[in-house]
Amino acid sequence: MPHDYANLFRLDGRHALVVGAGSGIGREAALALAAHGARVTCADRDLPAAEQTAALGNADRDTSDAQGNPTRGTSDAQGNAALTPYELNVLDPEAITTAAQTLDPVDILVFTAATNVRKRILDYTGEEFDRVVALNLRASFDLIRAFGKQMADRGRGSIIGFSSIRATTVEPGQSVYAATKAGLVQLLRTAAAELGPNGVRVNAIAPGVVETPLTAQIKANQPWYDAYAAKSALNRWATPDELAGAVVYLASDAASFVTGSVLHVDAGWTAIDGRFTPPT
Ligand SMILES: NC(=O)c1ccc[n+]([C@@H]2O[C@H](COP(=O)([O-])OP(=O)(O)OC[C@H]3O[C@@H](n4cnc5c(N)ncnc54)[C@H](O)[C@@H]3O)[C@@H](O)[C@H]2O)c1
Repeated sequence: MPHDYANLFRLDGRHALVVGAGSGIGREAALALAAHGARVTCADRDLPAAEQTAALGNADRDTSDAQGNPTRGTSDAQGNAALTPYELNVLDPEAITTAAQTLDPVDILVFTAATNVRKRILDYTGEEFDRVVALNLRASFDLIRAFGKQMADRGRGSIIGFSSIRATTVEPGQSVYAATKAGLVQLLRTAAAELGPNGVRVNAIAPGVVETPLTAQIKANQPWYDAYAAKSALNRWATPDELAGAVVYLASDAASFVTGSVLHVDAGWTAIDGRFTPPT
């Protein structure tokens, strides 16, 4: 029977949990997953931000039928499924356990919450180290364990974590952030090895520079902003919506044989040296 390639990326009937859905890449990921038919729980520590994401995605939806019954979880005429906000602080392991126990079973887990302290190693404090590692690595570990377990029990699932070009190439000031982003890749690869036999796929996306609140400090400094634009083969930064396609791909059956991989969405940042263009 020929494949239904036209629907290869559809996510109808699946439940996605996006952690960090209140901002930047997480927000666009949530909107894109819903546009492909997934029911999306938009989780964030910042509940009003998560509510805003859900409202954006639900904007044209009639959330009640003629009898006044809510129609959440159903698709609208364009095939977009509903988005629901959810307050979650991933620094609280008990809150993650509660989410795994109380939310509907999750088919797709995307987590983007992360932080960076840009400082030279000699200036870094132990408290700053702990803060970056707690969010970027420990919370990822807790999320993978809580939702990986239920996915393995159900025999299916897709876990997508956010690494960075900083897992591969660094510059002064990236030490702990870079270490967590490289560490996350190895954590996800090991999860892919351990959960693969149970039908769970686990992958990382490694973005280049993306205009979001996380990088606002750089945007405010024109020479810094321009230098980063010039480093990419496309001579520019990404907007957060340009990461959404990678998320939908890895979540969908289009990536049914993809696990343990790192998908670079960096406009060539890690492929190209870029220090000098030799005469040819
Ligand atoms: N923006 C970039 O240029 C860039 C580049 C490479 C990698 N990345 C990675 O992509 C991911 C997303 O980055 P972004 O720029 O969209 O970030 P962002 O700062 O715009 O969004 C992060 C979201 O996570 C939420 N969050 C923070 N702490 C939380 C907590 N304890 N519990 C729950 N939610 C919490 C925030 O409220 C926010 O909504 C990150 O992992 C980042 O390291 C970003």
